[in-house]
Formats: sequence, structure tokens, C-alpha cells
Amino acid sequence: MEQQTILSELATDTFRGLSANQKFLLSKYFYDDEGSRIFQDIMQMPEYYLTDCEFEIFTIHKEQITLAFREGVQSFDLIELGSGDGLKTKILLQHLVEKLINFHYIPIDISHQANTELVKSLKLELPLLSVKAKTGDYFREVKKLNGYSGLRKVILFLGANIGNFSDEEILLFFGQLSTLCHKGDKVLIGFDMKKSPDVIMKAYSDPHGHTRKFNLNHLIRLNRELDANFNLDQFEQHTEYNPLNGAVKSFLVSKREQIVHIGALEQSFHFKQWEPIFMELSRKFDLETIESIAENHGFKVEKQFFDSRNYFVDSLWVKK
Ligand code: AVJ
Repeated sequence: MEQQTILSELATDTFRGLSANQKFLLSKYFYDDEGSRIFQDIMQMPEYYLTDCEFEIFTIHKEQITLAFREGVQSFDLIELGSGDGLKTKILLQHLVEKLINFHYIPIDISHQANTELVKSLKLELPLLSVKAKTGDYFREVKKLNGYSGLRKVILFLGANIGNFSDEEILLFFGQLSTLCHKGDKVLIGFDMKKSPDVIMKAYSDPHGHTRKFNLNHLIRLNRELDANFNLDQFEQHTEYNPLNGAVKSFLVSKREQIVHIGALEQSFHFKQWEPIFMELSRKFDLETIESIAENHGFKVEKQFFDSRNYFVDSLWVKK
């Protein structure tokens, strides 16, 4: 009998990416347990302003934000996509709990470990909070949430995670989000704004070597999970920023001509010398673009919450 192998999603996506004319890997696979840990190192860099900005926004505007969440309803479901360590969200959660507001917190993350740790820390820090964590790809988990309960949904999509999406993924994601939401449901989305290219480059061009590790960890994951033989020394990490479209792009560049074998795919891939693998898009936005995304998907922008430097915005939308 012929043996049938069902390839994992990681395997099929990797095959697709490395067979493409311009090689790419998907940034969602950065976040295995080690990748989630390295990302925490990135967030702790003084140059990585994004986390500090959103922390500041929540600290300054928590009152107004929570007021908007509960406006006109007795209780709601607070659903967070890509909750990670929940550091910033905890400011809101704590405020909501202090105010004795009735809500359920549903964090969704692709990393099981991040989820477990978040739930554990919430039990200690906010024992009164009702938490129901889910592990998975948020496109899929969002679909499953359809009809979750009769309550208002408030969906959090923070930390500029939206920046990872291509134009097509933005359409797909907000299309799904729009279908999921009923009139009066709200979403709060963190967008990193266009700003001085110098400031952006300092955050992404790897002053401490964390971004390089973060990217190489993807190859380590392929070596481990797909039985690949990437030689890490033979790849160099490179970042560029294009102020025309706001795209920060990260690449791993092959330092020499080489062949990489991936056991799980029973396939070899050829790399030319200096051939790049496109690893991640971290897109920067402007207010016009944010407003047109909202309008195009049946949402109205209710309020824009900025940090003191206007580097970042948490944009609150309501479904029309
Ligand atoms: C988690 C997607 C928001 O794009 O800024 C940080 C990931 N990559 N440095 C970002 C990241 C390189 C981060 N996001």
C-alpha cells in the first residue's frame, strides 16, 4: 500500500514560500515558544518604541477606552487576538476589574506557552477576572467565535500586529471581522504610524542582535520541525524601510550559493548567492489609510487614541 503523508500547515506554507520566484516565509511562524521569548527581548529594547507607546496610550486613556467599551451595555466579551504576554492589556483589565465591570476576557494566541503563562499570571494578579484562553491562528479562531454569545463583542488587535498583513490579508481579515461583528460591536486596533525613518530604522535594524536571532529562529524551527538542514551562519539578516508605502521589510540573505534540504518535504531548495528570503512586513500607517480601511468594511471610527509623540494610534471602531 502506498504511504500517504499529510503535510502540516507549516510544511505546505514552507514549500510554497521556498518554491516561489521571490522566496518568502510567513511571519506567523516566528512565534514558537523560543520565538515568543525572543520577541519579548525585542519589546524590551529602548529603541523598540511601539510597546512603550501603547503602554502610554492605555495608561493615559484607560478611562475613556473602557467607557467606550461598556457604553450602552451591561456586559461584553473582550476578545484579544494575539494576546502574547498581555502586558499592555493588563492595564485595561485591571481598570475594568477595579470598576467592577461585568465582562469576559478571551485571549487568543498562536503560542500555547504564552497563553498558559498569561492565564497563570492573571489568576494571581486579577483573581476576579473571568478568562477563557484559546490557542490558535487567529484567522481560524475568529471564524470559530462566530455566534460565541449574545453579548457585545469588543475585539482587541493590539501591538501593531496588523502591520504584518499584506494588502490581501488586510482585506481578508477585516472582511472576516466585519462578518463576525454585529451592529454596535467594537474593535480596538493598534497601528504604528509613519514617522521619521530614522526612528523606525533604529527599532528594526537590530542594534542588539535580537532581530537577527528572531529571524534565524524561524530557520531553527524548520530544522527541528521539518528536518531541514539550514546552516545559520550562511544567512545574513537585513531590514529596509520604504517611506513611500510605510513598509518595513525584513530579509534573510543567503551569503553564498547553497542547497538546503527539507526532509519533511523530501525536497531540496537552491539559493543563489545573495538571494533574499522575505521574512516579515511591519507596515506603518497614516490616518487616511486607517479611516478608509474602517469605512470599506462597515465600521465607523469612533475615536483615535494617541501617545504623547503621535507615534502610535489605538483606533476604536464601531460596527455600523
Ligand atoms: C509583533 C508584528 C508587531 O512588526 O513590530 C518586531 C514584530 N519584528 N521586530 C513588529 C517585530 C521585528 C512586531 N509585531
